[in-house]
Amino acid sequence: MYQIIDGKKISQEIKDELKEKVAALKAAGTQICLAVIQVGSDPASSVYVGNKKKACAYIGIESQAYELPEETTQEELLDLVRRLNADDKVNGILVQLPLPKQIDEEPVIQTIAPEKDVDGFHEKNVGALCVGSKGYVSCTPLGIIQLLKRSGIEIAGKRCVVIGRSNIVGKPMALLLLRENGTVTICHSRTTDIKEITRQADILVVAIGKPKFVDETYVKEGAVVIDVGIHRDENNKLCGDVDFERVAPHTSAITPVPGGVGPMTIAMLMHNCVSAVE
Ligand code: GUN
Repeated sequence: MYQIIDGKKISQEIKDELKEKVAALKAAGTQICLAVIQVGSDPASSVYVGNKKKACAYIGIESQAYELPEETTQEELLDLVRRLNADDKVNGILVQLPLPKQIDEEPVIQTIAPEKDVDGFHEKNVGALCVGSKGYVSCTPLGIIQLLKRSGIEIAGKRCVVIGRSNIVGKPMALLLLRENGTVTICHSRTTDIKEITRQADILVVAIGKPKFVDETYVKEGAVVIDVGIHRDENNKLCGDVDFERVAPHTSAITPVPGGVGPMTIAMLMHNCVSAVE
């Protein structure tokens, strides 16, 4: 029988721990404030931003919402980021991605002050992760490490395979697994014989962005499978990058979609906001 890794429960535990910490900080006179910027009204982004505000309210973090129109220019957005960088009241700045097509994401991310970059996307924070020094780490991969640790899954010495090489998930995931002493391989769109590699994985993290891409033929018997994807299937039901029904019986533990990795991203954003003042 396999274990279903309950991201909803684990993220709630983390949020409750943070709530206590924030109350203690408040009692000592320290407030935390997160600025969330959304450009345009992409429906998925609006849901994510709404959930971030809700989590802030639950934990006791103040949130400032900046909802800019779709036609905002690069310079207008950079101006706002610079203003928030200079605002001592603001501890964390998050620019919700994706941005409208007239805006180049990279200069925006690199303009956020690294000490306020609670998403962990700034080069300085990515570099810190790479060399093993202190800095913010991207929330989704950070949440996956917490899911594994809090489910009693050992990483050290394990063969870890990550499918996907994005800056937000794949690359920082590989670096975090390496930091935990896993033996790490990254697979991507140009990998040949991908199944041969994924079938060696003790821990398989799938962040490929294709619905139900991974079936049982990709998975070693008894592996741990972490599914980062979120999509709607042909019946409008939420599903991940992993075909859960087919894969789960072959695993020792697996994350469901929804209720696996998703809730962890926000919990770790809250964690990063709290560490901004610690
Ligand atoms: N869009 C999808 N995921 C994320 C995230 O983790 N941070 C930001 N800023 N935007 C996103």
